[in-house]
Amino acid sequence: MVGIFCCILKDGKAAPIVHSALKKLEYRGYDSTGEATIHKNKLYIKKDSGTIDEVHARHNLDDLPGKIGIGHIRWATHGAPLRENAHPHIDCKEQIAVVHNGIIENFTELKKELEELGHTFKSKTDSEVIPHLIEENLNRGLPLIEATRETIKRLEGSYAIAIIYVKEPDKIICVQKESSLTIGIAENAAYPTSDIPTFLPLTKKAVTIENQEIAIVSDGKYEIRKITDWSLVPREPKLIKWVPKKAEKLGYPHFMLKEIHDQPSSIRNTLRLQDQYLELMTTFLDRAKEVFLVACGTSYHTCLAASYMFSKLAFLSTHPVPASEFIEQQGKSINIDSTILAISQSGETADTLAAVEHARLHAATILGLTNVIGSTLTRVSRVYICQQSGPEVGVAATKTFTAQLCVLAQLALRLAKKRGKVSHTEMERLEEKIEQIPDAVETILQTQEERIRQIAKKYRDIEFFLFSGRGISLATALEGTLKLLETNYIPSMTFPAGEREHGPISLVEQGFPVVFICPRDETHEKIVGDIREIKDRGASIIAIIEEGDEEIKALADDHIEIVKGMPEILSPIMYVIPLQLFAYYMAVERELDPDRPRHLTKAVTVK
Ligand code: F6R
Repeated sequence: MVGIFCCILKDGKAAPIVHSALKKLEYRGYDSTGEATIHKNKLYIKKDSGTIDEVHARHNLDDLPGKIGIGHIRWATHGAPLRENAHPHIDCKEQIAVVHNGIIENFTELKKELEELGHTFKSKTDSEVIPHLIEENLNRGLPLIEATRETIKRLEGSYAIAIIYVKEPDKIICVQKESSLTIGIAENAAYPTSDIPTFLPLTKKAVTIENQEIAIVSDGKYEIRKITDWSLVPREPKLIKWVPKKAEKLGYPHFMLKEIHDQPSSIRNTLRLQDQYLELMTTFLDRAKEVFLVACGTSYHTCLAASYMFSKLAFLSTHPVPASEFIEQQGKSINIDSTILAISQSGETADTLAAVEHARLHAATILGLTNVIGSTLTRVSRVYICQQSGPEVGVAATKTFTAQLCVLAQLALRLAKKRGKVSHTEMERLEEKIEQIPDAVETILQTQEERIRQIAKKYRDIEFFLFSGRGISLATALEGTLKLLETNYIPSMTFPAGEREHGPISLVEQGFPVVFICPRDETHEKIVGDIREIKDRGASIIAIIEEGDEEIKALADDHIEIVKGMPEILSPIMYVIPLQLFAYYMAVERELDPDRPRHLTKAVTVK
């Protein structure tokens, strides 16, 4: 996730306006910042790694000259947070500058093609192909708008793009496909941006650029066309009446709730991972003699879920180990034949890095999955994948968990394909289902949130919770428990449902709440039996069920429904959503701050 803000004025200086607006976008990313302006037919650029304040202190963003400017704050997804990877990106002749939010899925092929045509690339980003493609089309004698049109025909993926060109300094061209973009319209100025709050101090008039549209923006004017057939789209500006107090939370009261709601789009990004990274990691996993999945906290729950995915789909047996136990438990046995897949959204968790370092010293192969390019984990991994979640501010991990699960599901599926372990039809079905996850998550959020809020109200004074599930749902139950206890300080425990008679059932008494995770998978029949037994001891059952599961509905005191027909190995991605919301609304009911749980920090960099 990144943020864009652009400015075109009749008179005045664009750079300071872009600078102060970018400050409001900082919640979208903060590892690099850049601005480009045009003055007297020359392009001026300042960009560097670091937060806006750091980059401004080093380079003084405000002294860029000119009435037209584009700006960007970055959260690295392709290429480390270095100066050369910061936006804006430019063409070979230094006449076009581009900022981009989104992912260009086919950038590797495009880059190769452009390099063969003589273009020189300065960055490792996917975005840099855009100015070079435009340059190539301008070389054919096309005006900027046509050159852009030809360019976007070649782009696969999602994008909000803003383009300026020294030979046409009276316009900013904006293109939108599945990434938000709005223009603030003032009398003699216009401000294309990722988020409305950035221009509210300057104007209250807003024009949204919808999916698959292109806008030619000049000072106070704009023209919108459909990308597909180039037809003109008449659209009047709307008056924005709200004044968000907390722009960075997009109107949500807490980051945790905002990040829970980010999930349809963050998962969509995760599903656009570059093929070659997935393929490379799959190859390493395929060759591995033994695979350890190593992480802490929520990321460890990802490891647990992943062990079911790999085993069930690809027949690969893996060992999930909490990073803090790894050296003690496995240290002596690690050798050149061992492969460690370390999972850490921050890439900086001390125990995870210590486990990796130990394994490295014993010649093991290190694979990494993280949300932070440039983190220590990316530097020590033989191959790493960036999960593309965008920055997560709330201390409790939410969107980074579901993104990790999506990456692992894709890896397991590829491995299964490579090993010939799933039929062609089953493979197609699973690929189709993975693509449906963002919409399924959206539906859960839309249809179940109010119900969950009511359930949280009902149970707000309860002092102890049990969570349970079977199979892969055990990982979901563990994550639900962690979310509740870390944001609410409620002692909670997870037990595998089949273990109930071996101890946990002794805790159950009248009204005791037990949360069951019950997808309609191979474990369903057994879980019905588990629920009956626990209910017979007087427990209150809260069940997360598949839509229309009347059998469990009849047993449960409260239920939350998940969209039908999702395969078992994908179920944690959806079944965890109500648990995240439950923890959030419990905290709100109990007047706690879910964004800042006591004693916890976002990245645990001490052991
Ligand atoms: C829980 C949570 C933590 C982290 C853990 C690992 O909500 O956020 O348990 O999951 O500290 O962090 P990463 O993934 O950064 O290694």
